[in-house]
Amino acid sequence: MSDSDRYSMPDQQARFARAKKESNERYLDITTVYDPAFLKGKRVAVTGANRGIGLALAKELTEAGAKLVAIVRSTSDELEKLNPDELIKGVDQTSNELCVDLEHAIKGGPIDILINNAGYFMREEETLDNLDFNEQLKTIDICAIGPLRVTSALLRAGALLDGSKVVMITSQGGSVTWRTTQNPDGHDYGHHMSKAAANMMAALLAQEVKSKGIAVGIFHPGFNKTGMTEKYKQIWEVEGAVDAAVGAKRIMHEAGKLSMETSGKFINCEDGLEIPF
Ligand SMILES: NC(=O)c1ccc[n+]([C@@H]2O[C@H](COP(=O)([O-])OP(=O)(O)OC[C@H]3O[C@@H](n4cnc5c(N)ncnc54)[C@H](OP(=O)(O)O)[C@@H]3O)[C@@H](O)[C@H]2O)c1
Repeated sequence: MSDSDRYSMPDQQARFARAKKESNERYLDITTVYDPAFLKGKRVAVTGANRGIGLALAKELTEAGAKLVAIVRSTSDELEKLNPDELIKGVDQTSNELCVDLEHAIKGGPIDILINNAGYFMREEETLDNLDFNEQLKTIDICAIGPLRVTSALLRAGALLDGSKVVMITSQGGSVTWRTTQNPDGHDYGHHMSKAAANMMAALLAQEVKSKGIAVGIFHPGFNKTGMTEKYKQIWEVEGAVDAAVGAKRIMHEAGKLSMETSGKFINCEDGLEIPF
């Protein structure tokens, strides 16, 4: 397989332009390839299911007939309207204690797919002139250690078994290889360090749970129009940002394809291609 067949493109604007030039249906209209039928009756847990991509995933799963297990720090009217099979509130994933509580709170049997979606990106662009070490530690705690706290709690609870899948929503920002293209001037230290750490965590976890028959996907969800990316509003259209409802379908399409053979790979949900670490 050539590198261009295997890897996605680091230049987001050029990647979107090429997809349009090539009328790439997988990229431009996920409904041409995505079949949600595999989700019917499956128990799927989503962290951060109260808003943004997490809420869109919750809606997508509910529509597909999956049993939604919402794991959230705070709830929302929109999430509660979906009437999740299980709604576990108050899980701040920076707290060791609250994640131990999660281990005891989860009730309804094995989870087929766990989607670690909750994350954080400080609003201001971080440069050498405004470095914020506390924000950096907070971001690493939420984005890299948090999903490990949640996943290990569910493993200890016996909720993740042979055949279960764990999806880590990290970010293309965690690719060290892509920094020369995406951050030619540096910046965004805390966020990008946190996602690189999340990728490492997920790669190690994939190795450790291999013998249990659990596959781990490391996914960039694509560029989605959410509260987190509002600061990039001016480039949404030129870089192909999508509504979170589309992003959710892309994620579930890749979650469906995730297997023991692809476990530990870093995948761009925009085009289904790999991102180099
Ligand atoms: N949007 C994009 O284009 C994009 C691109 C690359 C990667 N991502 C990743 O995709 C995921 C979802 O992003 P989004 O755009 O939907 O973000 P968002 O709209 O800002 O939502 C963030 C979610 O994370 C939860 N969260 C934050 N801190 C938490 C904590 N300490 N404990 C538990 N939950 C916490 C929030 O819950 P509260 O409501 O309680 O704060 C919220 O549900 C994130 O991991 C993000 O890094 C997004």
